[in-house]
Amino acid sequence: MNLPEGVQYRTIGGDRTLATRGPQVSDESTDEGWRAWDPGRSKLGAMLDAGMETGLTGGETVLYLGAAAGTTPSHVADFAGPTYAVEFAPRPVRDLVAVARDRDRLFPLLKDARRPETYAHTVEPVDTIVQDVATRGQAAVALENRQFLREDGRLLLAVKARSEDVTREPEAVFEAATAELEEGYELLDRRRLDPRHEDHLAVVARPR
Ligand SMILES: C[S@@+](CC[C@H](N)C(=O)[O-])C[C@H]1O[C@@H](n2cnc3c(N)ncnc32)[C@H](O)[C@@H]1O
Repeated sequence: MNLPEGVQYRTIGGDRTLATRGPQVSDESTDEGWRAWDPGRSKLGAMLDAGMETGLTGGETVLYLGAAAGTTPSHVADFAGPTYAVEFAPRPVRDLVAVARDRDRLFPLLKDARRPETYAHTVEPVDTIVQDVATRGQAAVALENRQFLREDGRLLLAVKARSEDVTREPEAVFEAATAELEEGYELLDRRRLDPRHEDHLAVVARPR
């Protein structure tokens, strides 16, 4: 199993779980500075727990699209380098900012991931894009943000079928999304995240 440096399996509160070391967020379970990272609440956590080759080694620069309140971005910032966290909904950004207050490598951006030109002046070239926007046009968002990814970088994408089209079979949605993705990326791995994340496809890709 290839876990990035700074991510470990630990026993916390009696459960064996993925964990990162960093400042506690709200009342989450911790043990000796290690924070439980629940793969049931994090698509990236589920990808790591499934043993996918994410290319993450620790210390990399990350662009995180769809940061929400910062649950997964907080873990990423624990083991990665500078982590630019994009979220367009003001309410979760309030929590994200609170999480970032304790983390000098986490930079919240109240921005729309479909408009990368609005944060292009702030974000440096990155080693990894983590994308979990759960919105229509998920492949297009990944293509529009490819400009930030270094040549040898990785896209770690979660595609939520229901966000694209609730009426279509998830597999048909995934086929369409990955075909579109191939306009700018080479797909290295793909895996369904069910049952932890119903009707979600995880994709590892690199820029073409
Ligand atoms: C499933 S949640 C993300 C959960 C988060 N990745 C985590 O694991 O902690 C999806 C988030 O993407 C945000 N989102 C959707 N479309 C977006 C866009 N175009 N730009 C930025 N954020 C977007 C939503 O507001 C929502 O907070």
